[in-house]
Amino acid sequence: MTHISLDLENLKHITDTQELNAMQPEVDRMHQMLERGEGQGSDYLGWLHLPSGTTPDSIEVIQKAARNIQERCTALIVIGIGGSYLGAKAAVDFIGHTFSNQISGNGKTKIYFAGQNISSDYLSDLLDAIGDEDICLNVISKSGTTTEPAIAFRILKEYLEKKYGAEKARQRIWVTTDQAKGALKSLADAQGYPQFVIPDDVGGRYSVLTPVGLLPMAVAGIDIAAVIEGARKMEELCTVQANMGENPAYLYSVIRYLLYSKGFPLELMASFHPAFGTVMEWWKQLAGESEGKNLRGIFPASVQYTTDLHSLGQWVQEGNRIVFETFILLDTSSRQLEIPQFDNDDDGLNYLAGKSLDFVNDKAYKGTAMAHLEGGVPNLAIHLKERSAEALGQLFYFFERAVALTGYLCRVNPFDQPGVEFYKKNMFALLKKPGYGKGN
Ligand code: PA5
Repeated sequence: MTHISLDLENLKHITDTQELNAMQPEVDRMHQMLERGEGQGSDYLGWLHLPSGTTPDSIEVIQKAARNIQERCTALIVIGIGGSYLGAKAAVDFIGHTFSNQISGNGKTKIYFAGQNISSDYLSDLLDAIGDEDICLNVISKSGTTTEPAIAFRILKEYLEKKYGAEKARQRIWVTTDQAKGALKSLADAQGYPQFVIPDDVGGRYSVLTPVGLLPMAVAGIDIAAVIEGARKMEELCTVQANMGENPAYLYSVIRYLLYSKGFPLELMASFHPAFGTVMEWWKQLAGESEGKNLRGIFPASVQYTTDLHSLGQWVQEGNRIVFETFILLDTSSRQLEIPQFDNDDDGLNYLAGKSLDFVNDKAYKGTAMAHLEGGVPNLAIHLKERSAEALGQLFYFFERAVALTGYLCRVNPFDQPGVEFYKKNMFALLKKPGYGKGN
């Protein structure tokens, strides 16, 4: 059963079945290219059949490490940036309690993130926040050389060593990195930290279903077998069905491409549930780094409604008409609340008494979609049935397939990211990193 469906009702004026059908031969060709590993960047297709290749034994190894971490500490700090951070955070935020780190006594290991910035205030505040916690670290970097997580690791390692002593601190560190190369790998080997491997053929932003995402998820108490099972079902569907009528990932991908080609280069993903906040951040990285190159690609942005209807909503309604909107909707909240009836209807809300917040939120979505359509913003909706581990696994894989296909449709290599090196080169030169001076 797929937890994902698309609603294209509000695109009827922009595209039709005939236009979509005309794209099918191109989609078939690119599907073959992906499956046969014949397209650009084919050295990085390890994610394509990763879910079906994930064995129960490999899941158990991760779960065992997670149990070990849970027993040893009350808080895990996950250190990483980009693809080595966003997937795990997306899952923890989507599945977990909205205020999980503020709730104590529920037996859950708190999850914090570091190394995703170089902010002195952030890291100092984090050190305050973890004051009395028993800490473990999971340092994640595929290259093993990324500056942001390396700095955070140094500072947090020093903190652990002061708190527990060098030997005990060593037993509180787990590393997820390349199997053979990088400074983090050498360090992990030298110190004897337990290690998880990021496969060579899986790029950072496609690595959420490897130990990069799965270990922090398991520590947070997420059923990682269910995440993988969800992804596996979506993988199966996408592998056997290139037909857009049956394959929601390809349909979404082609719709995005057609809208892009028709003068809408900015995709605004909009949710009505804060649980999707980091999922949209993960999606932005996946789409932005995969598609934005050679002066092409859709610019992925996100908003959280109804919050942002009181902010960017004005721009969306009446600003520059370069945007299409993708609503990401949750069909049913995990928990239900109803608006109470008051004898004294001072606030005038009795007309909603007895109605659920989901009911009101749904009307907010429908009203918004209608208004934005009338304002010249074509929109579509991705429906996710529930806030579950299996549904999230399906969603992760759905977006991976869709973005890979859009990349190929845009004639770019969806699996490299040469553009991210430019700032590093300048930063290293300014920092006088050996080898990055003038003339290098
Ligand atoms: O998708 C990517 O490849 C990047 O966003 C990386 O994940 C990010 O730069 C972090 O790299 P690393 O895991 O090597 O530290």
